[in-house]
Amino acid sequence: MERHITLGEFIIQNQKDFPYAKGELTSLLSAIRLAGKMVNQEINKAGLAEIRGKAGKENVQGEVQAKLDILANDMFISTLRDRGDICGLASEELEDFIVFNEERHKNANYVVLIDPLDGSSNIDVDITVGTIFSIYRRISPLGTPVTLEDFIQPGINQVAAGYIIYGTSTMLVYTTGSGTHGFTFDPGIGSFFLSHPDMMFPESGRTYSINEGNYVHFPGGIKKFIKWVQELDEEDNRPFSARYCGSMVADFHRNMIQGGVFLYPEGTKSPNGKLRLLYECNPMAFLAEQAGGKCSDGYGRIMERIPSELHERAPFYCGCKTEVEKIEWFLNQED
Ligand code: AHG
Ligand code: MN
Ligand code: MN
Ligand code: MN
Repeated sequence: MERHITLGEFIIQNQKDFPYAKGELTSLLSAIRLAGKMVNQEINKAGLAEIRGKAGKENVQGEVQAKLDILANDMFISTLRDRGDICGLASEELEDFIVFNEERHKNANYVVLIDPLDGSSNIDVDITVGTIFSIYRRISPLGTPVTLEDFIQPGINQVAAGYIIYGTSTMLVYTTGSGTHGFTFDPGIGSFFLSHPDMMFPESGRTYSINEGNYVHFPGGIKKFIKWVQELDEEDNRPFSARYCGSMVADFHRNMIQGGVFLYPEGTKSPNGKLRLLYECNPMAFLAEQAGGKCSDGYGRIMERIPSELHERAPFYCGCKTEVEKIEWFLNQED
């Protein structure tokens, strides 16, 4: 009989690869897993529980918040606050980071950044959404309140990152720097089981994911890349297929499994694109690199960008190595 390895068991087995104190990260990942199960439960009954639709408020980035954006945000915060594993948290849905400074948090070494619900415009139409998380060790001294510097670290400092995809199945995919591993939730049992060990992007893929409606705003290099993927070249297997579902987690997940590249260029909603560096781009970049993929801002590695603000944005090109390098080539030709 096939042996079923749960997420909890896998984390404990693999903590030997982790360079810092073991138990803390294990406990933190288990809190994220628990919050993910709670959010999953809410999403599954969204159509019945009157939790679809807009909350009537905007977040700091001027986006209209969905009811589930707020619900998911509250669930992650309260679950993580209840444990003593982290000393602070930042979220897409909160203007400032939160300091956790009760007695149980005084020895906590980690901060978490989250996008509680990614692709929230998909909720009302029953399409896949996700949660993204990024974990750093604090820089400020243990026992003091966390500061902005603890959160605005470059992506290369991440100690763990992951996402939950609420799709046809619910999956949790994470990395601590020793590969990218995927676990599928069994709702009957209430546990995540290892289903996708060592996930890998193919070297090259034939799918591209971009909101092409914004074509007119794109940099010249991206327009040329789009024309290139649409050209007929039988030897090179072009044209590519277009797939874009409005939830980066879902597009990323498909592209990692089947091969493809995701693009959110600058010049659309803002000069730096739309996606937020700290809780959208960097965690996905860590997962992608651990899975043999590549993530770039068009000119360099996303994870090496030095952030200066909590909610700053970055252009984002992520997926199979060959196509991300092709995008960089087109962008550089234009300069
Ligand atoms: P969020 O729902 O967390 O605000 O993120 C939405 C992001 C990302 O998931 C998606 O790929 C992109 O925004 C879609 O933006 P457009 O509608 O501009 O294409
Ligand atoms: Mn949003
Ligand atoms: Mn998002
Ligand atoms: Mn979001």
